[in-house]
Amino acid sequence: MSPRLSGKVCVITGTGGSMGRAAALAFAREGAMVVGCDLNVDSASATAQLVRQEGGTMESLQPCRLGSTAECQALVNFAVRAFGRIDVLFNNAAMAYFNWLEDISDEGWDRNRREEVDLVFYLTRAAWPHLKRSRGVVVNTAVEGSRMGGQHARQDPPGPFGPPGGGGERGVVPRLRRKLLRDGCGHRGRWRNEGLVIESRAPDAAH
Ligand SMILES: NC(=O)c1ccc[n+]([C@@H]2O[C@H](COP(=O)([O-])OP(=O)(O)OC[C@H]3O[C@@H](n4cnc5c(N)ncnc54)[C@H](O)[C@@H]3O)[C@@H](O)[C@H]2O)c1
Repeated sequence: MSPRLSGKVCVITGTGGSMGRAAALAFAREGAMVVGCDLNVDSASATAQLVRQEGGTMESLQPCRLGSTAECQALVNFAVRAFGRIDVLFNNAAMAYFNWLEDISDEGWDRNRREEVDLVFYLTRAAWPHLKRSRGVVVNTAVEGSRMGGQHARQDPPGPFGPPGGGGERGVVPRLRRKLLRDGCGHRGRWRNEGLVIESRAPDAAH
């Protein structure tokens, strides 16, 4: 069977972390040209090295702060300069903070939004022209708990936004997906039939 991602340029965020690294290795084994990024220089560089050691193709930009629109644009430019196109955007990176609802300060809420939601929006917007051109795919990491009301978190009672103080903001990501669907291939969207595929995936305690 030929590799499923042969010739595809796949941007994966947070490749210095556990799921980002696993995704980079898995995508490269399927023939993808991987573009990674992370805040963490050492671990992101190590991932790129691991991929190349296995014979895969990967370029990586670090440090890259996805909470900055300018750095998101720089990542898109980096990917296009390296490989000429973007076929897949995997919005994997985020910080996760946990706290009880009444203990989340205004600053904490703002930080959670910036570090869990803004980075998905900024990078998707920057990559959108290339994804439209390639009729590409966006995969977002969401949080299962934000859908389930947190009942899976054994020691924590459910909070109104999902697990108490954690992952709730990420509940916005599946909603953002609907906006992308409408703009990308929705029934009323300007880009009807352009064929963009938008997915949200919610891993639950993947280690
Ligand atoms: N591991 C799980 O059980 C689980 C469950 C549900 C959801 N998730 C979500 O899946 C994603 C990946 O999880 P993980 O376990 O690999 O986490 P991780 O902490 O190991 O990796 C996340 C990586 O993203 C990077 N990152 C965070 N914010 C960034 C930013 N603004 N700019 C650039 N890089 C940034 C971090 O430096 C880190 O290397 C996260 O969004 C997490 O919330 C994980």
